[in-house]
Amino acid sequence: MKMILFVFALMASPSLVLSGYAQTASDQEPYLKDVINQLMVVWPKNHTINLVFHGHSVPAGYGENHEVHTLDAYPHQLLEKLKVVYPYAVINVITTAIGGENSLSGVQRFERDVLPLKPDVVFIDYSLNELTGNMAVVKKAWEKMIKMAQANNIKVILMTPSPNQLIDICTPGNILEKHAEQVRELAKTYHTGLVDSYSIFKEKACKQNDLKKYMASVNHPNRAGHQLIASAILPWFLLPQNPTQALTPPMGWNSWNAFQCNISEKLVMETADKMVSSGMKDAGYQYLILDDCWLTKNRDRDNNLVADPVKFPHGMKALADYVHSKGLKFGLYNCAGSMTCAQYPGTKNHEYQDAAYYAGLGIDYLKLDWCYSDGQDARLSYTTMSNALRSTGKPITFSICEWGTNQPWNWAAGIGELWRTTGDITNKFDNPKGTIKLILNSVMSIADKQESLRKYAGPGHWNDPDMLEVGHGMTVEQDRTHFSLWAMMAAPLITGNDITKMTETTRAILNNKNVIAIDQDVLGIQGFKATSRDSIETWYKPLANNEWAICIVNRSEEIRDINMNWNQLSVTDTLTGRTLDFATTRYKYHDVWSGQKGNTHTTLKKQLAAQDVLMMRISQ
Ligand code: GLA
Repeated sequence: MKMILFVFALMASPSLVLSGYAQTASDQEPYLKDVINQLMVVWPKNHTINLVFHGHSVPAGYGENHEVHTLDAYPHQLLEKLKVVYPYAVINVITTAIGGENSLSGVQRFERDVLPLKPDVVFIDYSLNELTGNMAVVKKAWEKMIKMAQANNIKVILMTPSPNQLIDICTPGNILEKHAEQVRELAKTYHTGLVDSYSIFKEKACKQNDLKKYMASVNHPNRAGHQLIASAILPWFLLPQNPTQALTPPMGWNSWNAFQCNISEKLVMETADKMVSSGMKDAGYQYLILDDCWLTKNRDRDNNLVADPVKFPHGMKALADYVHSKGLKFGLYNCAGSMTCAQYPGTKNHEYQDAAYYAGLGIDYLKLDWCYSDGQDARLSYTTMSNALRSTGKPITFSICEWGTNQPWNWAAGIGELWRTTGDITNKFDNPKGTIKLILNSVMSIADKQESLRKYAGPGHWNDPDMLEVGHGMTVEQDRTHFSLWAMMAAPLITGNDITKMTETTRAILNNKNVIAIDQDVLGIQGFKATSRDSIETWYKPLANNEWAICIVNRSEEIRDINMNWNQLSVTDTLTGRTLDFATTRYKYHDVWSGQKGNTHTTLKKQLAAQDVLMMRISQ
């Protein structure tokens, strides 16, 4: 287990180190209360807690050197709460006096008091002193601390300043913005971790266009910062740094698109059988996920979730066992709010209890939705469930489904393996030409929204543009294009059709191993749209072994002639720096739909049907 510290931490068991700048004991009251409330939610219950408070703000008499105090010695009743929630935890309170990080004396104290604690992680945070101090001095001091930490093999996470009620963060060029930029540069230069709390809070506060109200709502100048710390930092340090789950985008089937609440044991069993007999399992689809409506409307006397006994007469455990017996994995759905979208009991305040229930069933995947979540903080809610799932010790893939509302790409990596980026997909291909009526979340409108998010995707953390609508009412060409684009985007491939009744055409699309291989490429790079002219789009995706996928989409409603005059083509991926230059290098191509093979020496001519694709794997 690792330790974290906020510029400062300690000892052998996992430690949480909190920095505080409250100046007096009474000032600390709201600060501590807030931190502890957050802590009670996010800190896994089975860990020892070492709280470290640093700064010149520690209660009088707590000295210059770090000292270990027992809970009883610490004057705040609030800590008693921890004893109730964590009856078995050893709670130490350690106070240090390492304030004044803007000065070199702060650095000396860092060296004297922090380094000997040999933490795994040090978290370097701002105090008011630094914000009002000289930026060049801050930079120098931080550089020294970073270098010292790194020389001692200690990971460093920098944090940009949290809003402070004294500073108007909504005005461009304000002092916090300048400090934030400096911190970002330091993080880049020294390859440290970075929590850009400034951007996150600026976004929240300035959107409301009422900074004062926002600051009042967070109650204490530093409250927002500490909420962030509790919710964002803990999972980072608790979880393995190298992802072990969902190294390629998850593949499976989900009941929602085709069946909504019309689900049953029979459906699941037949679907599992068909996933095997249709070759889907062999093609890579492994999760069978039951979406909303599998529960009864109330929890039982002990607040346990109860599977609907009419829909699932043999119970959920028997069903999970059946799915597993087919060599598949089983997933369930719930909601981070008080109820699911279809108004079944939600997870809020039952995270650990529900996680234990899921682990008991042996489920492998949880999709957590976002209905009835008024007033909840998304990052905190999903972190709580993530920690609850992790605390079961089972490798449960965690699918975050808050529809992109709180920009999960900024915070969800490490909390879940995939996060929805938009509202619900529909089985409509595009916005119809010549009408002003827009179809919300058509296949193409979702694809349009993914481009700016590609940098957030990668092994273990995927953008999820929602489940597939292949075989659920669109034309063959539209289905092919939809499937191809999801593969180009390294999207999770979760089918949403009735696979027990699918046609051979649908089966062939879903099982196209060449397309799936592009989606599942080990590099996990999300593809990008390079050109879009006259309704013809070209998409590129860098693959392992210097290969690429190219997808040409005819978005129009007419047949189009495609002339691939390779010599004139060259594409650079700005994210990876990789270039595909047909003028200087000759490549081979393999059309993944028709099977046709060729090379880029001669022009490729092809008629492309309306809303169809030409998709190729390119290699040298
Ligand atoms: C939300 C989700 C959908 C589905 C339904 C179930 O709309 O985004 O994917 O899970 O809830 O009620």
